[in-house]
Amino acid sequence: MFSVVQVSDSHVSLRLPRFNANWEAAVAAVNRLSPDLVVHTGDATLDGADSEEDCAFAARSLAALSAPVRIVPGNHDVGDGRSRSQPATRDRLARFERHFGPALWTEDRPGWRLIGLNSQALGAGDGLDHAVAEAIAEALRSLGDRRMAVFLHKPALITALEEGEVGYWAVPPEARGPLAALLTHPALRLLASGHLHVARLSAFGPATLAWCPATGFLVGEKLLPDAQGGMRQLGLMRHVFREDRVETEILAIPEAEPIEIDSFVDEIYPPEKG
Ligand SMILES: [Fe+2]
Ligand SMILES: [Fe+2]
Repeated sequence: MFSVVQVSDSHVSLRLPRFNANWEAAVAAVNRLSPDLVVHTGDATLDGADSEEDCAFAARSLAALSAPVRIVPGNHDVGDGRSRSQPATRDRLARFERHFGPALWTEDRPGWRLIGLNSQALGAGDGLDHAVAEAIAEALRSLGDRRMAVFLHKPALITALEEGEVGYWAVPPEARGPLAALLTHPALRLLASGHLHVARLSAFGPATLAWCPATGFLVGEKLLPDAQGGMRQLGLMRHVFREDRVETEILAIPEAEPIEIDSFVDEIYPPEKG
């Protein structure tokens, strides 16, 4: 048995420090849980996609965690697919990796393989999708009889691999090709993501789809009219890995201030940056 605490969407910055105290509260809550590993599922930075300083500050902020840390990139860290305002590019990815380590990673624990993926590369082209496909192929080639848990920023899907248009919610269906072998694999037990700033647990075959809440801020009904059954709360997730299953719980962060971004989103994210 081992435990992983998942945190997500901290959006920290020295320049716009509105959410930094909530990250400090999250660090205290995580350290009290003393997990074997912490996985941050992206948007660690307010705007690391365009700011070296935000990357450096977020990396220093993560160093306050006592446990080992793995991180996967979010749209605010490296950009998003072929987005017109902030596309995911090789340069942005290289900056992320300089500060946070590899964007694609595999970590083995007894009986389990944990896989970190860069959801932002999917649909980006320029060989970035191919790198994700290669990492998945290699992770499956040497899987053996381990179970799998996958961590990525954007949900891989909402309810089904082949579903209609999903907009902001998940990896676009047409960009999911590299994920298919992973998501249909019988050893998959956990598919854990961030990005939506709402908390939800649902079933996907023998796996749990875990939408981790944000530590930084809430998105209210103006920006996100339908939370798709998710709870608007700040928090974190604890995943306890047993022999053939993962027990996941959503935990509140007692000292976090429930800041809702709707009324001042343009000050933080001007419209052209989304
Ligand atoms: Fe976010
Ligand atoms: Fe995001």
